Amino acid sequence: MSRSLTLKKIDGKPGEVYYPLQLNNNPKPVAGPGELLVRLHAAALNHRDHFQRQHLYPAISFEHPLLADGCGVVEAAGPNASSSIIGKRVILTPSRGWDSAPEGPEDAFFTIGAHTGTDCGTAQDYVVIPEAEVELAPEYLSTAEAAALPLVGLTAWRAFVTKSGNALPGRNILITGIGGGVALSALQFAVAVGCNVYVTSGSPAKLERAMEMGAKGGVSYRDGDWNKKLTALLPSDRPYLDAVIDGAGGDIMARVTRLLKPGGIVSTYGMTVGPKMDWLMSAVMRNIELRGSTMGSRKEFAEMVAFVKKHQIRPIVSRVVKGLDNMSEIEGLYEDIREGRQFGKLIIEIVPDEKGGAKL
Ligand SMILES: NC(=O)c1ccc[n+]([C@@H]2O[C@H](COP(=O)([O-])OP(=O)(O)OC[C@H]3O[C@@H](n4cnc5c(N)ncnc54)[C@H](OP(=O)(O)O)[C@@H]3O)[C@@H](O)[C@H]2O)c1
Repeated sequence: MSRSLTLKKIDGKPGEVYYPLQLNNNPKPVAGPGELLVRLHAAALNHRDHFQRQHLYPAISFEHPLLADGCGVVEAAGPNASSSIIGKRVILTPSRGWDSAPEGPEDAFFTIGAHTGTDCGTAQDYVVIPEAEVELAPEYLSTAEAAALPLVGLTAWRAFVTKSGNALPGRNILITGIGGGVALSALQFAVAVGCNVYVTSGSPAKLERAMEMGAKGGVSYRDGDWNKKLTALLPSDRPYLDAVIDGAGGDIMARVTRLLKPGGIVSTYGMTVGPKMDWLMSAVMRNIELRGSTMGSRKEFAEMVAFVKKHQIRPIVSRVVKGLDNMSEIEGLYEDIREGRQFGKLIIEIVPDEKGGAKL
């Protein structure tokens, strides 16, 4: 058998409803042509999973397993798939429909996990997946750390490396809401490149931790004048931001327009604060560019994983819950997202990690 976690359909309007979780027993799947059977060992939550429970996300499936991030061990290979990968630890690509085009997806693009477009999701014991949709997990990572990487790593990679145009040593980069999974990946990538990274957070403790990870400075977005405080932190020989990597939205343009150099970039991958943000004439006058950025292509995913391996980056794990059937503690992970308590990724350990569990 293979257990799966799905959403249970109940009545309610988007934004008001909160779908319960449901544990199911399914037959163990069999790998078809070109496919692998993967025993999932760990899965990770993302902000989208919190949006799905409130029906604030498109194309929700109540049949398909939840979650987009997973790490597991290949148990079998179907016809025409490589048998040499059996026994290897892999991570799954978190999305479908985008091979390599730099500007955007070639086909209908969506994220795996409780999505009508695919029965693939990582909140289950076994998944069958095309061989092309896995990468070998970096060996130095715990299973929890490896499961923490795919979605946030890919999103941060595209927003920072592909879209900001400022993944260069010495550039001044602001990353907002540093407790978030994408923001922390962007911080790790930018520090590895040699940028001067500044961050915002609602929590002084999270600012401290970001500094320990290599950020040059940080301010609380709860302070009414945080942008002025940030100005004072910038180096005297480069007293401006080159780019902002933002997942919050809200009044970000009003905050950063004067901090950015003329022609500076705001690479925006999310709007946690609300589904709209203001665009300002003052930003137009400074030739600021606002660039929307989603997750990335299959090609970008491979590039991101290679970069992580090269720089021995360890994704930040906030908390691990043991057991796919540990419903009350899994609920606690969703609560962490709702309350913004996390610093990094929230993990469900499905199979105990023989390497000693998460490195926390
Ligand atoms: N376009 C895409 O393909 C894509 C992909 C991934 C994520 N996203 C979106 O990007 C956003 C972040 O995703 P995630 O998974 O990294 O989320 P997450 O782990 O839940 O983190 C969200 C973070 O938002 C920060 N935040 C809350 N209010 C803020 C404010 N007023 N100003 C600045 N930051 C604020 C908090 O930072 P502190 O804890 O430091 O206060 C919180 O940790 C979500 O909206 C998500 O839907 C989009």
